[in-house]
Amino acid sequence: MNTPLAQAAAILSRKGGKPIAMLTAYDYPTARTLDEAGVDILLVGDSLGMVVLGYPDTTHVTLAHMLHHGEAVARAAKRALVVVDLPINTYDTPEQALDTARKLVAAGAGAVKLEGGCDKEAHIAAITAAGIPVMGHIGLLPQNVLKEGGYKMKGKTDAEISQLHADAQAVARAGAFSTVIECTRADTARSITEACPIPTIGIGSGKNCCDGEVAVISDLVGAFPWFVPAFVQPRAHIAESITEAAQAWMRDVQGE
Ligand code: KIV
Repeated sequence: MNTPLAQAAAILSRKGGKPIAMLTAYDYPTARTLDEAGVDILLVGDSLGMVVLGYPDTTHVTLAHMLHHGEAVARAAKRALVVVDLPINTYDTPEQALDTARKLVAAGAGAVKLEGGCDKEAHIAAITAAGIPVMGHIGLLPQNVLKEGGYKMKGKTDAEISQLHADAQAVARAGAFSTVIECTRADTARSITEACPIPTIGIGSGKNCCDGEVAVISDLVGAFPWFVPAFVQPRAHIAESITEAAQAWMRDVQGE
């Protein structure tokens, strides 16, 4: 049987091998489509706060939101590993992190992801020691947006680069099976990937600089056209298709 631990071990073994493809999913039909398309990992990211729930950032996301959407995605996944984000304020201590991770696993998560490096080593270790696979998340940490006064690219100074390397090593030491690297310079992502013993999964951190890539599905398919990050290249234009379908249907209904 392909248990989450076996799935996570399979991802870990992809270090330096076939690049890992991870996409976010927040609902059953999208998750089922992506699972059948063959993506390796379905991430129920707390980006759902913005691209699904309409909040300005991820600081409004609650555990109830993550449980609700995690359950829907878990019902759809037949082969991909389902990773669910720990939302802000639900992993302030190692004990709270483990309690939250257990609730997400009970809702169907195969693994959990949390933001932070050295400062979260003990939190990650508490979860992995309980047999729950953990994905790290270093670099730009969206849950810090209010604290940092915006979204800032990481790895621009020598001090930041050293900190990022230390973060990656701490996440790996704590037993994580992989880590996201968000919005760092490409050369920084490449050097962390070379030094880090676990797979790195990049977003906004250069092309082919990590062991895999993650994209927010709404960015990839053009479902959230009101804000598209600069590094995203949409492969479809779903919002336009919905507008066209709705307008064609209205012409039919209203006889115009
Ligand atoms: O919440 C999310 O979608 C994420 C990805 C951007 C990595 O954490």
